[in-house]
Amino acid sequence: MKGMILHISRSLSRCAVPALRRRFHSGTHPVSTATSKWRAERRLTSEEIYVREEKYGAHNYHPLPVALERGEGIYVWDVDGKRYYDFLSAYSAVNQGHCHPKILAALSGQASKLTLTSRAFYNNVLGAYEEYITSMFGYDKVLPMNTGVEGGETACKLARKWAYNVKGVPKNKAKIIFADGNFWGRTMAAISSSTDPSSYEGFGPFMPGFELVPFNDIPSLEKALQDPNVAAFMVEPIQGEAGVVVPDQGYLTKVRELCTKYNVLWIADEVQTGLARTGRRLAVDHEEVRPDVVILGKALSGGVYPVSAVLCDDEVMLTIKPGEHGSTYGGNPVACQVAIAALEVMEEEKLAENSQRMGELLRSELRKLPKDVVTMVRGKGLLNAIIIKETKDYDAWKVCLRLRDNGLLAKPTHGDIIRFAPPLVINEQELHECVDIIHRTILSF
Ligand SMILES: Cc1ncc(COP(=O)(O)O)c(C=O)c1O
Repeated sequence: MKGMILHISRSLSRCAVPALRRRFHSGTHPVSTATSKWRAERRLTSEEIYVREEKYGAHNYHPLPVALERGEGIYVWDVDGKRYYDFLSAYSAVNQGHCHPKILAALSGQASKLTLTSRAFYNNVLGAYEEYITSMFGYDKVLPMNTGVEGGETACKLARKWAYNVKGVPKNKAKIIFADGNFWGRTMAAISSSTDPSSYEGFGPFMPGFELVPFNDIPSLEKALQDPNVAAFMVEPIQGEAGVVVPDQGYLTKVRELCTKYNVLWIADEVQTGLARTGRRLAVDHEEVRPDVVILGKALSGGVYPVSAVLCDDEVMLTIKPGEHGSTYGGNPVACQVAIAALEVMEEEKLAENSQRMGELLRSELRKLPKDVVTMVRGKGLLNAIIIKETKDYDAWKVCLRLRDNGLLAKPTHGDIIRFAPPLVINEQELHECVDIIHRTILSF
């Protein structure tokens, strides 16, 4: 199976790219003249790039001031050619490293053959991907989507359908429980479960049927699950956006036991923690427990394309019938080839093992930082965070600016937390160089 997939992606990549290039260079492609005006503009300085985005783009992000134009492996380069270690990995989407050649070959190979048919027709790639990913993770079926939040929406819809059709919850009474501090995206449903005012404030009214319990609190969860109308408990095995909050050892095992006891689906949101990021294929593998529904995204494409997926067994998946859910781009041939390649890279390059080893090394080095500046180090695998003690002279934002000046990119979250999550292809020597930069930076305060 794996050999067959490899063969498909190799033969596609051989034929496709030169033909495409010729068409663009000869100017016969209808789009080439229309876009060239924008592509051929003079090189802008970093400052000009910030100003232009500020002027023409929505102000829904607050980026660290650095303008990037190239990436390879664990590195990115800015428009002046300065190289940085990427310690964010596009929020764990680039686990395989920037511009991984195998994933790019899969992308370009399929892109010049067949990109999108919609699900109105069959295509010759989707089934291969479905077979590959379901056998890798041990679920009966997969439902392909694009972004992580669509994966979450899909999981919630599956849970509600299952509640009505299988569990016997009365119509429109199904509840889904979430944990305080959760983050699963920016749609109306996702923010309806959020406890972060910057996510939900000013966007009401909110989705009914969502309830919250404290994260890492088994007695509260058990109390909530006793309600017979509960369809599902959706939780991240480690809360990424909340600041890499790791629950107690045994929490996930207890979640499994309770969901089974009360006939409630356990949905694991592994969009950020999954695909080797925490030192296992899935973060739930640390406790060897199996959720009923798993959501994947981000690194499912290695950062080259939006690809997400929901995995579960037939009892849940087959409650949704034709016409009841879907997405124009979900499961398109490019996405499928890219995802196969991204998963193969994860396996072939033993990213989970490397993430586990490098993560332990990183945390042991970070724990040597002065405690009066770095008050906490936490994480699993290469999903880590430090907490900076704010003073009038420095805070996490200022630390990140100085890390940038010293050649390492990281981003603060919730004011005082800095996440450290490099691509999983980083080796020991590179990690030591990064640790040196972090030490030097922190000590400079
Ligand atoms: C755990 C988790 N779930 C879902 C999402 C949403 O993914 P996307 O931004 O691709 O919609 C994120 C994004 O950070 C996430 O961390």
